[in-house]
Amino acid sequence: MSNIKCIGILTSGGDAPGMNAAIRAVTRSAIYNGIEVKGIMRGYRGLIYDEIETFKSNSVSNIIQQGGTILRTARSEEFRTPEGRKIAYEALVREGIDALVVIGGDGSLTGARILAQEFNYPIVGLPGTIDNDLFGTDSTIGYDTALNTIMQAVDKIRDTASSHERLFFIEVMGRECGFLALNGAIASGAEAAIIPEMSELKDQLADLISNGFRKSKNSSLVLVTEGNITGGAMAMAERVKKEYPQYDVRVSILGHVQRGGSPTANDRILASRMGAAAIDALLDDQRNVMIGIQNDKIVYVPFSKAIKKNKPVQEDLLRTLKILSI
Ligand code: F6P
Repeated sequence: MSNIKCIGILTSGGDAPGMNAAIRAVTRSAIYNGIEVKGIMRGYRGLIYDEIETFKSNSVSNIIQQGGTILRTARSEEFRTPEGRKIAYEALVREGIDALVVIGGDGSLTGARILAQEFNYPIVGLPGTIDNDLFGTDSTIGYDTALNTIMQAVDKIRDTASSHERLFFIEVMGRECGFLALNGAIASGAEAAIIPEMSELKDQLADLISNGFRKSKNSSLVLVTEGNITGGAMAMAERVKKEYPQYDVRVSILGHVQRGGSPTANDRILASRMGAAAIDALLDDQRNVMIGIQNDKIVYVPFSKAIKKNKPVQEDLLRTLKILSI
């Protein structure tokens, strides 16, 4: 049985809808199990600058429905250095925090892994990112809400696209991962998705146009993952203007609207289950793992696997999008 008496909790990296539901679940599950909780503000930065407060059950009242994170978040440059991490570790010891729960994406869990290794310190991670780019979990906290936001935005853009018979490139987030673009395209009935995972394999734009694009339609919606790998929506539109000048093309970049808003029921439930599982994992002496859910079952994924950036795109999604866009 674990001898953890006090845990710290922090959110780090980009905020994601459902992070508050996760904070609530971790806090209440810990208290339920007789464990004290300390909320660390602004991610790893709050450890370095001692921004730590005791959390009670009512510290997390009325937050399950709120987007963002009540703990605030940051991307800490200092924490990337060994000196910064030493200061952070000393704060954990000074505050009597026996274990840490980190809610964040790839960068945040990479930081957690290094801290855990350097100081032999117990950390459990929760996947909190709209990008869905962590291996070992079917979905990350925030992904479903962002997907719904994208779907609603694309539904609106469709009105203009069809009225003016235009080709729209709609840029979505995802960093180097095409989940938001691909599933956003399927959910909104878009014609195609241009995603980083396929960029090395083929010229997705040329492929789209040579495959009889617009044979049966006058308007088209194409979702494009942001970033250098695809080049983004602007680059696609520039190419179309030069190579296929017959099309009336426009760009829409959805931006941070995708990260905000009240979490969907799916994200609230996911965050609640994962938050409770984080405390179970610590009580069960699990160390340095991310909580995932695979096929509706809680799993423990070692940090080294979760952050490997190798979550594959499901072939059937690509196929479905192609078939349904005829
Ligand atoms: O990781 C979440 C995310 O929204 C990515 O999709 C995006 O590339 C990045 O964060 C944007 O970060 P920032 O808000 O710091 O500009």
